[in-house]
Amino acid sequence: MTFYQPAGNEIALFTAAAEHGLPVLIKGPTGCGKTRFVRYMAEKLGRPVYTVACHDDLTASDLVGRHLIGPEGTYWQDGPLTRAVREGGICYLDEVVEARKDTTVVLHPLADDRRELPIERTGELLQAAPGFMLVVSYNPGYQSLLKGMKPSTRQRFVSMSFDYPTPDLEQAIVREESGCDADLASQLVGLASALRKLKDHDLEEAASTRLLIHTAYLVASGMPHIEACRAGMIEPLSDDAVTVNALMEVVYAVFGQSED
Ligand SMILES: Nc1ncnc2c1ncn2[C@@H]1O[C@H](COP(=O)(O)OP(=O)(O)OP(=O)(O)O)[C@@H](O)[C@H]1O
Ligand SMILES: [Mg+2]
Repeated sequence: MTFYQPAGNEIALFTAAAEHGLPVLIKGPTGCGKTRFVRYMAEKLGRPVYTVACHDDLTASDLVGRHLIGPEGTYWQDGPLTRAVREGGICYLDEVVEARKDTTVVLHPLADDRRELPIERTGELLQAAPGFMLVVSYNPGYQSLLKGMKPSTRQRFVSMSFDYPTPDLEQAIVREESGCDADLASQLVGLASALRKLKDHDLEEAASTRLLIHTAYLVASGMPHIEACRAGMIEPLSDDAVTVNALMEVVYAVFGQSED
């Protein structure tokens, strides 16, 4: 079973939404556990999950399906959304605000009480199987005003906000994921808290839980702490040498200047 450390009522909320076939929207910064949570819930509910990483060229056909040409002529191939609809699975659209606007045409009738998917190309009108659930996530930090979701889309979803976990939960996550000892987990979480408090460097995003786990892995393989922090945590945050040096000062404050 996939490990997931809950931070609040998210498991109960998702379960309740699933019971009623309601779609779910998860917002939160990078590396805070959105994808992990969806995978965990899919396992818990025993449903297959079809994940789509959305991008600005993603069209409705990428979700629904298309005609392909094979040795015996053309045939229809279901897209991930259609497969989830037929099988009663979870369709998970990651970074949904990136998707082209024409995708809302197929998502809207699926995300309300109709629960149906019109497949224009084949003339089919599919009724979603009972287990079907639409889940979308996005990172509000990257979102430009222009790309915001329309109220008519937003209001179809049960919505929850994720954030980085509290220090004790984050330590538990880092230990469980990386297998590191309690001391290192506590130092890394302390370092992340210090980095997240720095307001004067305009980083696009704060240090995520993901970076702490990567750093712990590097240490586990024998990298000295300072080098592990630089490569696992600091360099991924910024390309600006001055900023990297300033952030490294915080690392030295936690782990000392010299290599161990
Ligand atoms: N609550 C949690 N329980 C277990 N692991 C977690 C949790 N939060 C974060 N993690 C760990 O952090 C890593 C990153 O989490 P995840 O991939 O779910 O982030 P995300 O929110 O989907 O980020 P992105 O927006 O960049 O896709 C996971 O691989 C996992 O190791
Ligand atoms: Mg993700």
